[in-house]
Amino acid sequence: MSKNVEMCNESMADYLDRIGAGKVLISREPLSYDWTPSELVGRKDELGELASMFFGIENHNVSCRAVITGNVGSGKTVLTRRFCMDVAAKLEGRRKVSIAHVNCRSHPSASQVLQQIASSLDSGHPERGFSSGEVIQSIRRNIRSRESHLLLILDEVDVLVRRDNSDLIYKLLRIDEDKEGEGTLSLIMVSQEDSLFTLFEAAIKSRLGESNILRMRPYVASELVEIARQRYEASCRPNSVSDEVLRKIGIFAEESGGDARMAIELLDRAIGEAEKDGREKVTVDDVLPSKSRSASVEPNQVDGLKLHQKLVLLGICRRLKREEEVSSGDASKLYELVCEENNETPKGYTTFWKYLKHLESEGLIVSRASSSNRGRGRTRYITMPNSVPAVIGSRIENELLRR
Ligand SMILES: Nc1ncnc2c1ncn2[C@@H]1O[C@H](COP(=O)(O)OP(=O)(O)O)[C@@H](O)[C@H]1O
Ligand SMILES: [Mg+2]
Repeated sequence: MSKNVEMCNESMADYLDRIGAGKVLISREPLSYDWTPSELVGRKDELGELASMFFGIENHNVSCRAVITGNVGSGKTVLTRRFCMDVAAKLEGRRKVSIAHVNCRSHPSASQVLQQIASSLDSGHPERGFSSGEVIQSIRRNIRSRESHLLLILDEVDVLVRRDNSDLIYKLLRIDEDKEGEGTLSLIMVSQEDSLFTLFEAAIKSRLGESNILRMRPYVASELVEIARQRYEASCRPNSVSDEVLRKIGIFAEESGGDARMAIELLDRAIGEAEKDGREKVTVDDVLPSKSRSASVEPNQVDGLKLHQKLVLLGICRRLKREEEVSSGDASKLYELVCEENNETPKGYTTFWKYLKHLESEGLIVSRASSSNRGRGRTRYITMPNSVPAVIGSRIENELLRR
């Protein structure tokens, strides 16, 4: 303890200078993926299409449905958030709207999804021992008693369908059937899988309608530049990031699949580089994709892996979409989660380690030992410097879905 205190005192000034210099950064918040900009870049047509699927929504007995598909970082989540907020604002005074956004990757079972909906309505948690049908009806009563309309977004819905089939979706689509009064709920389902529709039974397909699918195309460089610019302007001091820097970010992000997340991540890291050096300006050299992502591994290299090697890699990819590295301990937990989602029994620890070694020998991952005396035994830190984790991850997910 006393040693810690000493260390703190010694390095205090230094330490605070580094994180608090703020020569570039004013607020971190707009650099987070969850920040919802007031205007989306380059999605006017898509918003218009979505609006046309919600034709008539101002009428009290009307319910709408939409399915949105697209790659990671194509802006599916932010589009649905923006759209629902805009709809709620537009209908103010005419129709009350409640919004529930459930990420099925974080809440993959039907009962967890229902729990999320119920708690977002502030109606308390559904008690245990009720069937999903009963919980749905209690959600319905809640909405109707407030004369509201529920805009429900089921994000990453393929995870729910894969795990629990489409029973819940079927029930939600029929929430008003054989009941008095209609127009309780509108449903937007979001998935990376373009093939989502094929997973559904005919009864669901006919209720959704093929024309209600919106496919999000990847962004082009000029759009990615504007997405990065929007974040920069909201988070940094004026003139700290030049057009040249933004252009480089746009080009790199386009090359890695038109992923907006990549653009934001590159900007974030470039700002970090400048801050670390105590500079007032971000330079083109601060944009560093090659450090961790030169696409020297071909995505199809994963096709030859064994099933559980893929599951291990998928867990790692999911974390590395957002973070620089993942510890072997976390990778093992992520692997167990992936197994659960896919109804597979996880292999034991020894086999898990063997698979990590194999992935490393294939160049798919790189690992290093933890810096000494952290007392973590054989913990290793894993990165994927030779590939784009999001791309590898969705390739594996697509394949699992086709099983
Ligand atoms: N058109 C856009 N304009 C501004 N920001 C965007 C746009 N598209 C995506 N983003 C931002 O990029 C990040 C990734 O988008 P997200 O909606 O999470 O993608 P997806 O759900 O398709 O993986 C989010 O932080 C989001 O706010
Ligand atoms: Mg999303």
